[in-house]
Amino acid sequence: MSAATGRVAMISGASRGIGAAIAETLAAGGWRLSLGVRRPQDLAAGAGRLVCRFDALDGASEAAWVARTVAEYGRIDAVVHNAGISIPKTIIDADDADFDRLFGVNVKSPLRLTRAAWPHLVAARGKVVTIASLSGKRVKSPGSSFYALSKFAAVGLAHAIRQCGNEAGVRSTAICPGYVATDMVADRGLPMDQLTQPADLARIIRLVLELPANASIAEIPVSWTVEDCY
Ligand SMILES: NC(=O)c1ccc[n+]([C@@H]2O[C@H](COP(=O)([O-])OP(=O)(O)OC[C@H]3O[C@@H](n4cnc5c(N)ncnc54)[C@H](OP(=O)(O)O)[C@@H]3O)[C@@H](O)[C@H]2O)c1
Repeated sequence: MSAATGRVAMISGASRGIGAAIAETLAAGGWRLSLGVRRPQDLAAGAGRLVCRFDALDGASEAAWVARTVAEYGRIDAVVHNAGISIPKTIIDADDADFDRLFGVNVKSPLRLTRAAWPHLVAARGKVVTIASLSGKRVKSPGSSFYALSKFAAVGLAHAIRQCGNEAGVRSTAICPGYVATDMVADRGLPMDQLTQPADLARIIRLVLELPANASIAEIPVSWTVEDCY
């Protein structure tokens, strides 16, 4: 039996890509899961695998998802902010509607979810993991600049949570990957088999979630290649 057996993790955007890989890896480690997805009817539920409706653009869905999770399991040990979108526009070309959608999914919803889950995270001395991006550490091109703006904010959110959780023993980590082989980058002509694989990222996230509070990690940059600093 692993040390994590019976612990409860909420994972947003667990329908595919990185979120689905995190769910699979945590389940193998004995975690009980609460998966937040837009179309719960498309995902199999089961013992230790609750599937809930969650839409990051519906400001009521985070609190409802937390309530269902606590009704089912009675506790929350970890929240993984994974759901995210990319809008491949420059900061010059993007308009206010783009801003509201990008920041609505990548920043505002994780903040609302953190607030809703907070008393339970404090009670469990739990963990928050935010899947940010290397685009939250450096702006690499005009076309990724608008996405990067939101991911810098996501890294800021992870650090803000870290400060707010310090005394209560709630730890927060920003995971900052470069390209990961998922649908998000499937149409960019990249060598998908050479990119970071979702299952490997999931192993890193499981390690972060299972470390004790006195081994706190603020950020983890992960790259499929070698850049100047990452
Ligand atoms: N792939 C990369 O290269 C890369 C690199 C760095 C960081 N990231 C970040 O990693 C996270 C996961 O991305 P991924 O690569 O796994 O992308 P993906 O395969 O496109 O999956 C995105 C996930 O987010 C969900 N989602 C999108 N909009 C949502 C909304 N309004 N409400 C609820 N869920 C929503 C999607 O749900 P549906 O199935 O319902 O659409 C899906 O589960 C994102 O935060 C992304 O920014 C990705």
